[in-house]
Amino acid sequence: MRKKIIAGNWKMNKTPSQAVALCEELKDLVKSDEVDVVYCVPAIDIIPVVNAVAGTNVMVGAEDMSFEDKGAFTGQISAEMLKDAGVKFVIVGHSERREYNHETNEDINKKVLKAIENGITPIMCCGESLAQREQGITLDWIRQQVKVGLQGVTAEQAAAMVIAYEPIWAIGTGVTATTAQAEEVCKAIRKCIAEIYDTDTAEKIRIQYGGSMNAKNAAELLAEEDIDGGLVGGAALKADFGKIVNYR
Ligand code: PGA
Repeated sequence: MRKKIIAGNWKMNKTPSQAVALCEELKDLVKSDEVDVVYCVPAIDIIPVVNAVAGTNVMVGAEDMSFEDKGAFTGQISAEMLKDAGVKFVIVGHSERREYNHETNEDINKKVLKAIENGITPIMCCGESLAQREQGITLDWIRQQVKVGLQGVTAEQAAAMVIAYEPIWAIGTGVTATTAQAEEVCKAIRKCIAEIYDTDTAEKIRIQYGGSMNAKNAAELLAEEDIDGGLVGGAALKADFGKIVNYR
């Protein structure tokens, strides 16, 4: 049985002091033995949030990282820095970074490898645009993102990873994919993992759905066989996040 993983993606929200206040507000609401709980927070909030959640079940993630080790990369943050700060997860390849920072599948692959090398679990995002869905190329597009993203990753490493399926048209729009649409793609991703590796790896890897997940729709989505969690944006910034964690 795969343990569900509910991760908040705070995006560019919350100053360090606001971040600590949100951790305090959510503290009792996100307690769970059954579900892994992660807050993926802006880089500047990482250390205060690591301190604020110390001794609780919450783990801390970053929203991005460099694929370089160190050196003359002004403004970038390395995997080693994240690890030293107490980060356990890192989102890689979020559609907003693909769009605004022109990240390619190859860049994302390098980040996945670098995170794993440093003992940080990647949450690798994939997802199609509305135009791609309407053209009927969703599954081909996602398979390509997943295949390139996982190049050079061993079966054992892949089994410990998280993939987030986030249809771009559902992010921040209030339009959630239907449960059937979300399950169809998550199942296809698992099949793709079985093709690249084997069924054992496919059974172990955790696949999240993201895109307007909220306290109302979470239970239905999370009841699906191939949806092992959620990557939650807007609803991660309020008490509703606790309801998603405790969706059962
Ligand atoms: P949303 O964002 O829940 O606000 O749609 C999800 C995400 O972008 O990870």
